[in-house]
Amino acid sequence: METKVILAIETSCDETAMCIIDTNNNVLAHVVNSQANDFASLGGVVPELASRKHVDNIFYVFQEVLYQAQKSIEEIDYIAVTYGPGLIGSLLVGVNFANSLSLLYNKPIIPVNHMQGHIYAISMDHEITYPHLSLIVSGGHTDLVYLQQPNSFELLGQTQDDACGECFDKVAKLLDLPYPGGPYIEQLAQTGSIGSYQLPIPKQDDSYDFSFSGLKAACYNLVNQAQMKHEVIVRSNFCASFQYVAITSLLNKLSLAKNNLQPASISIVGGVSCNQYLRQEAKRIDENIIFPDKALTTDNAMMIGLVATMQLNLGIAPITNIVNATPSIDVEEQWHN
Ligand code: KG4
Ligand code: ZN
Repeated sequence: METKVILAIETSCDETAMCIIDTNNNVLAHVVNSQANDFASLGGVVPELASRKHVDNIFYVFQEVLYQAQKSIEEIDYIAVTYGPGLIGSLLVGVNFANSLSLLYNKPIIPVNHMQGHIYAISMDHEITYPHLSLIVSGGHTDLVYLQQPNSFELLGQTQDDACGECFDKVAKLLDLPYPGGPYIEQLAQTGSIGSYQLPIPKQDDSYDFSFSGLKAACYNLVNQAQMKHEVIVRSNFCASFQYVAITSLLNKLSLAKNNLQPASISIVGGVSCNQYLRQEAKRIDENIIFPDKALTTDNAMMIGLVATMQLNLGIAPITNIVNATPSIDVEEQWHN
């Protein structure tokens, strides 16, 4: 197939990101403008503020990505854009930008499911063998997904309440750490000792589902009780104990699915997959387990472009010229006109 050039757009949460990538997976430019610093002191993303910031940023990110790739919009063949899941206001900025470009320059759009993007982030530097088992752990989702073949997504299990990353963020806030809290917890845990604080490992059953609200509540109780007794929480020990329990619960389910399904390859993706303790412990389940490059674990546009290139190369890309934002789709959802 003739090589095509794709402009990929991602605005589902608090990153305004664009990538120019061709169908041989050559990345010509990738720009990620994160709003994380704007929300650091607020304890989380404020959706209304996030969408306004996307509006402020998107045109600059667009100009910058074209400049870095030394391309004009006329040289772009397809526009790939995240249409869900995510925050509705944030998604709308990206899809409306894609719709406007499509209308002005007569470019076809490939709508991309953000969760599928997280999985295909690994295809940047790994050949995926199938059947493939993927654990997506991000700020909004904790999903165990089985891919019998490329572009086929079966949701085996998911969190019944909070996402794992959200739990890291809430516990970090409880300990007066900035948002997003995952990296701060990981760092403090390095000098703490596991088991100093007794926390329950969630959902030790044989389903593929997860749960993190009980663990979060147990953390709140421990901190409250300590405050009432005027005891000081040793943050490093608390972080080590929490991180151990949260990650053990993830890996228990991954291990269960591996044993039952015997996949040809396994990946762990999404923001929490940046965590070095998770990476180290996961090797016990499968020493060849695949992780994305750290820059591709959190939200970015390259992963959106990688889904589009995979679909174009297989001849199954869903092409449209107008796309709607759909905030609550799951990983199985494919775009249909
Ligand atoms: O995938 P992502 O950028 O956003 C969503 O699509 O939700 O993931 C962000 C999440 C945040 O909750 C953040 O605290 C968590 O990933 N995270 C981490 C680490 N780095 C980011 N969690 C644990 N350890 C880390 N090193
Ligand atoms: Zn994400």
